[in-house]
Amino acid sequence: MNLRLINIKQLGGVHPLNTKALRGKALDQFPLIENAFLTLRNGKIEEFGPMSECPQDETPTQDLTGRCILPAFVDSHSHLVYAGTREQEFNLRLKGASYEEIAAAGGGILNSAGRVAATTQDEMQRQSSLRLNRLIANGTGTLEIKSGYGLDAENELKMLRTIKALNETSHATLVPTFLAAHALPSWAKTKGMNDATYTKYMLDACLPTIKAEGLAQFLDGFIERDYFKLTALEHLIEASAANDLPLKIHINQFYDIGGIQMAVKAGALSVDHLEVMTQEALKSLHGSDTIATLLPSCSYFLGIPYAPARQLIEEDTLVALATDYNPGSSPGGNMQLVCNMACAKMKMTPAEALNAATLNGSAALNLSHRKGSIAIGKDADILITKEIPSLEYICYDFGTNHIEQTLLAGLPS
Ligand code: NIG
Ligand code: FE
Repeated sequence: MNLRLINIKQLGGVHPLNTKALRGKALDQFPLIENAFLTLRNGKIEEFGPMSECPQDETPTQDLTGRCILPAFVDSHSHLVYAGTREQEFNLRLKGASYEEIAAAGGGILNSAGRVAATTQDEMQRQSSLRLNRLIANGTGTLEIKSGYGLDAENELKMLRTIKALNETSHATLVPTFLAAHALPSWAKTKGMNDATYTKYMLDACLPTIKAEGLAQFLDGFIERDYFKLTALEHLIEASAANDLPLKIHINQFYDIGGIQMAVKAGALSVDHLEVMTQEALKSLHGSDTIATLLPSCSYFLGIPYAPARQLIEEDTLVALATDYNPGSSPGGNMQLVCNMACAKMKMTPAEALNAATLNGSAALNLSHRKGSIAIGKDADILITKEIPSLEYICYDFGTNHIEQTLLAGLPS
């Protein structure tokens, strides 16, 4: 479909095509064109500029007077595929139980794993597609989705096949990650496995099929004092190199056990969470190409500290924002709200938040050549706002959907 959008109040996120990701002061620049046009052709961005330069030809036009455009959000960390929900645990937490206590009592990730095991792939896909459609309506165009609620080979593969099937039926771009080490299941404990031997077992058991069926692009693990420790991380690092699956690692959510330094040294694509940081962990990220993916809605929902976004940005660390959408620690996947939280709670500027939620998110998926900014030749994944005063307004007026329409590959979605 070919379409020219005209009289755009603000066309934002206009970065040169070869800009991979933004750091330091550059993150605070969200270049935009006032009173702009944008031409989409065959699923790609063909041309854009000020209305004074708008071509006059046969291309169908849509008048967007009063409305703004920015690249569709790139949510680079989610657990969108799962079965059932965990609002009962939310109730327990409100009565004083901690996330970790609930997990230790067999709730949390293990609770979701039981539900995944008891649910067919078709039903899990149906439940997940309802969530996905809500996210698209809120401006998400690209979404990373992790496995990790399977906890045995059969169910991890079932989750990854669900992501693949969902991707085939959606206009959104879904990027699958094999979350090999999320929680130690009771069957593994019975067999005498520990966090490290279980991780090794899961990698060996799943990776051949994952490679054969093309089920994952990245590898992940929950590196944490009470979950998977540094030997497990070593196994993930080895498997990442051997299978050409870059690492995206859950790390420093509750404790610092020195994993960030190891992950950065191993060239991890991203380290995600970072609510609890030490000077050594911060230092290892200075100027590195590993992206710090921050998840403020998890901090909000669990009542844990927010990641030190200001310090990370000022020390030239690459920062991306994502939702962590999952049934336990962040049962919401709205990137507009994440941008608001990044500003209100982590003191990021609206420009920083919008860049971190688009271009830097695409870099955290190795997709910045195709997604995350308005540049000629990139995928025509854009969001059209309702009538709002400015793009910054999205980060300010929280709790309502400012998106009128999300176009993915140039098509209404
Ligand atoms: O990213 N931290 C580990 N995993 C998820 C939460 C999983 C759950 O509670 O279901 C997270 O927060
Ligand atoms: Fe997560």
